[in-house]
Amino acid sequence: MTTEAPGAAGKTTTEDTPLLEVRDLHVTYRQGGNDVPAVRGVDFTLAPGDTLGIAGESGCGKSTMALSLLRLQDRGARVEGEVLFRGENLLTTAWSRLRAVRWAGASVVFQGAMSALNPVRTVLDQIVEPIVLHDKVRVSEAERRATELLDSVGIPARRVRGYPHEFSGGQRQRVMIAMALACRPDLIIADEPTTALDVMVQAQILELLAESVRESRIAVMMITHDLSLLAHTCDRLAVMYAGRIVELGPSRQVLQAPEHPYTRALSRAFPTIGDPASRRAPAGLAGDPPRPSRTSVGCDFADRCPDVLPVCRTGEMQLWPAGPGRSAACVRALPDQGGTP
Ligand SMILES: Nc1ncnc2c1ncn2[C@@H]1O[C@H](COP(=O)(O)OP(=O)(O)O)[C@@H](O)[C@H]1O
Ligand SMILES: [Mg+2]
Repeated sequence: MTTEAPGAAGKTTTEDTPLLEVRDLHVTYRQGGNDVPAVRGVDFTLAPGDTLGIAGESGCGKSTMALSLLRLQDRGARVEGEVLFRGENLLTTAWSRLRAVRWAGASVVFQGAMSALNPVRTVLDQIVEPIVLHDKVRVSEAERRATELLDSVGIPARRVRGYPHEFSGGQRQRVMIAMALACRPDLIIADEPTTALDVMVQAQILELLAESVRESRIAVMMITHDLSLLAHTCDRLAVMYAGRIVELGPSRQVLQAPEHPYTRALSRAFPTIGDPASRRAPAGLAGDPPRPSRTSVGCDFADRCPDVLPVCRTGEMQLWPAGPGRSAACVRALPDQGGTP
């Protein structure tokens, strides 16, 4: 195995190449002989140092989308489109390349990551291993770096030879984050990394992740259904509904002046950081997201939308421009419907 930089395999990488470019991504599960389209045409781009939050109720396709970027989706799911990581399509690249990218290029912190720690090895060893393996450095050097990393996530040097059960849930989650940072990835994908933790600890951990990112220009894609938590840690926000991005833009603008009625409902429901109620359906928003197996005409949100127009039931929705750096899949955001010109 070589130690070449990610994307170095015959690729030319310039400053202008986005780190990650997702184009028309579709992910379809097969269930009981039927197609279940869980992700239905997602496009977005991340530059080095970008922080993108992904929000939306349960079942909107956030995890499916995140997993499929590194081909970690369930076997049997069909993935179409392009996932360009420094210009290299991860959906078609060789497994050997993909493995190299998964550690050193893009790493993941997943839902339930706390059970991913090995109970019979010290936390130090679990961080040293990938560093030795992928950076080809001596164990002593890897230990120095791992200790520094653990210190940066608030685990002091005197505790690094402890075993996972000797740490609290919040500390273990911070160990997971140190692990994700171990090989100096260019991208971290975090899927609800803190949902199992209490609100204060969640905020601390996300702040920590954001700090590491600001210092090292790592790009982050952070998934949670808690919009206000995302607003504090991510520069941009993408709101997903029924497998599609329905609104995208700078976090604060999206939250303070949402263009899509779905975003409006979400942001009204959780004005405070980490509101535990955010795990439930947004207040004032009746019903559930449509089941992915249901094929629909018009806007997927029409049945729950307080501002529905006749055209919403028949027209083709797409992510239209809605002001500088913003887009929304709502006809009301179009200038001729009274939206932002
Ligand atoms: N392995 C699977 N097989 C079939 N359907 C799945 C599978 N995983 C997820 N789904 C379906 O895909 C949709 C999106 O799920 P998911 O990506 O987990 O959403 P989110 O992360 O936003 O909660 C849901 O309707 C879910 O039931
Ligand atoms: Mg999920």
